[in-house]
This record gives sequence, C-alpha cells and structure tokens, in this order.
Amino acid sequence: MAEPPIFRPSFGNKPDNLVGRETALNTLAQCFDSYPGMRERAVLITGQRGMGKTALLLEASDLADSKGFVAVRTTCGAALLNNILDGLQHTGSQMIARKNPPIKGFSAGALGFSFGLTFTDEARQSYGFKTKLGMICERLEEKYLGVAILVDEVRPNSEAMRQLATAYQELAGDGRNIALIMAGLPSVVSALLEEETLTFLNRATKVRLGSISESSVRQYYSSAFSRSQRSIAVKTLRDAAAATEGFPYMLQLIGYYLVSLTSEGDQITSETLDEALILARADLDENVFLPMLRPLSQTDVAFLEAMAHDKGASRIADIQRRLGMSQGSVQSYRKRLIEAGVIISPRRGEVCFVVPMLADYLVTGVSHVPRGRGR
Ligand SMILES: Nc1ncnc2c1ncn2[C@@H]1O[C@H](COP(=O)(O)OP(=O)(O)O)[C@@H](O)[C@H]1O
Ligand SMILES: [Mg+2]
Repeated sequence: MAEPPIFRPSFGNKPDNLVGRETALNTLAQCFDSYPGMRERAVLITGQRGMGKTALLLEASDLADSKGFVAVRTTCGAALLNNILDGLQHTGSQMIARKNPPIKGFSAGALGFSFGLTFTDEARQSYGFKTKLGMICERLEEKYLGVAILVDEVRPNSEAMRQLATAYQELAGDGRNIALIMAGLPSVVSALLEEETLTFLNRATKVRLGSISESSVRQYYSSAFSRSQRSIAVKTLRDAAAATEGFPYMLQLIGYYLVSLTSEGDQITSETLDEALILARADLDENVFLPMLRPLSQTDVAFLEAMAHDKGASRIADIQRRLGMSQGSVQSYRKRLIEAGVIISPRRGEVCFVVPMLADYLVTGVSHVPRGRGR
C-alpha cells in the first residue's frame, strides 16, 4: 500500500506526528503510571473543534496499550456502555493472545464467563453495566492488564455518562486497575461538571488544549516538507508556521495546500504560501468558525465583534464602552465566552481570542474564495 500523505486536514484522524503536545502526553503517561484509584486516573481533555482532542485520545489509546492497559475508545452516545464492554472484550482477548500464547486456562470459563472474556448467557442477561465492567477488570487483572476507557465528544444530560461515572467511581474505589479519559468542547465540559452525579470530575486532571508553540510547528514543517521533497526558504517556513497560529487543524490545512500546490523537487515560494492561505482560510471558516459561532447568542457575537477591532488583547473596559453594557452584563458574557472556549483572559481585565484568526473572520465575514477547491 502507498504511504499515507503527510498532511491530512480532517477531523478524528491520527496525524503523522502529534506536534507540540509533550505536556499533555506526560499527563497521560502519569495517568497510567499512577496507582489505581488515584485522582490522576481520571483525565478530562478540553479544546475547541480542531484543537486535537481526538488526535490526543488516539495517542492515549496507543500509550495505554504500551503500558499494559486494554483501551477502548468510543464517542458518548446511546451505545456508550455497550461499546465499552464490547470493545474491552474484543481488544482484551487480542491483547491476551498477543501477550501470552497459548494462554493456559484462560479460555476455560471463569465464574460468569463462558470463554475468555465472553460472558455466559446468564451473566449477560442478569448483570448490569457496573458488574460486567468489574468482572472484565478482575479477569484482565489476572493477566496483569488494566482497563482504559476513552470517551470522545462527551455530552451533558446523558444517562449512559452517569452510569459510566458511577461505575468508574465504585470500581476505582475498590482498587480496580481502571483509568477514565474523556474529551469534549469546553462549554460542554463545563455543563457536565455541574451535574450532580458527575461532580467527582471536578477532581479529575484537566488537560486544556490550546494552541501549540510556533517553534514546534516550524520544526515539524521543516522535516515534513523535506520528507515531501519540497524545498522552502527560511523566511517562508517561518511565515507558514506563524500563519497556523499554533492551531493544529490549520497546521494540517496549510501544510496540505502547500504540498498540493507544488510538485516533488519544487520550491514552496511566498506566492505558494499566499495561495495556500486563502484556500486554508476558506476551509477553516467553514469547518471551524461557522460551527463555533452557530450556538452563540447575538450578544455573544456582538461581544466578539467588539473585540475584533483590537490588535491583540482587548480591555474589558473598552468592550463595555463599545457595547454600552453594564459592568455586570459584560462580566457575565465574558465568563460565558471563556467557558465556551472562544476567548481566554491572558491578564486581569483583558480578553483575547483563542484562535486569533477568528477576529478577521468576524470583521471580513466568510472568505470570498471560489468554493470547490477546498474539501
Ligand atoms: N498536535 C497535533 N499535531 C499535528 N496535527 C494535529 C495535532 N492535533 C490534531 N491534529 C490534526 O488536526 C486535525 C483536527 O484534530 P482533531 O483531533 O480531529 O480535533 P478535535 O477532535 O479537537 O476537533 C486532524 O487532522 C488531526 O490529525
Ligand atoms: Mg474530535
């Protein structure tokens, strides 16, 4: 099979290289290295669309595997609990076979299991999720394996999430070798933390995915373009890295267009970069900014527009004056937008955009780029 392309701007795929996420990876390693039941064992990842939550979960799954955990990765939906059990049974059986073939005695039934990790009909029908998960944990512990549950796109008001949270807490309390890693949009996770059964998540380790450093993007671009047989001048490389603003999806988009607008052996020029940026921006508007702004209220957007004319951070006092709002209202919109992961407060009394390109988008509207060249 041909090598996959280096740049693949999309959602939910594993990047060629997880750039600039060393701290997050350390936190995940600590999760698996910590003692069962410790607070490090529950991790909550937040970040805007395109910040790399799913990419990090994919990496977490590989890390779990290398640390002796059977990992199951699923999105939060109606089938959440079944997906978790099915996934653990499937991957668990494979890992056991790989670890220790032939596994003497493991294929024979243990209490509640007919074969390996397959439940007896009776167990399947009469036990609930928590009991089944506990049985799988115990069975895997016999083979020195832990259980890592990775839930993507978490949602509030989910009965399945509540059941999972309760089961996790009880099993962790019993000292089972289990880890729970969840990822979601900042606003959704704030709503989740308000729920009574999920308050324990307030104690979970938080990984807030923001932009990655420009120097790590530059280093990565340098190696990725040379692997793609493209040359690039130092200044153009710097400009390309700066244009990503450390936003992983934009890193993929700009890289992708720079490679597709050139051929092997070509040089990537500043003109190529200009063209790539227009195409990348159009995709970014459509796939990130539009969905990011859609759930916001008109006043939320007015707040953002009031920020958009400042170069860099905006002063809250200026926004209040521009909008003619009371101090209390401005503070409550500020809080809402921070929770939604659209803005951050770099210093007291100031706010700025998480992805600064959003300011241009708010000022100029949707890019007037001929469609059809994007994805
Ligand atoms: N650290 C990173 N380095 C390079 N590419 C990344 C990184 N994180 C994510 N990506 C890529 O960016 C795109 C969006 O990432 P994704 O994980 O789907 O975002 P999210 O789940 O937060 O919406 C994907 O193409 C992904 O492969
Ligand atoms: Mg995702």
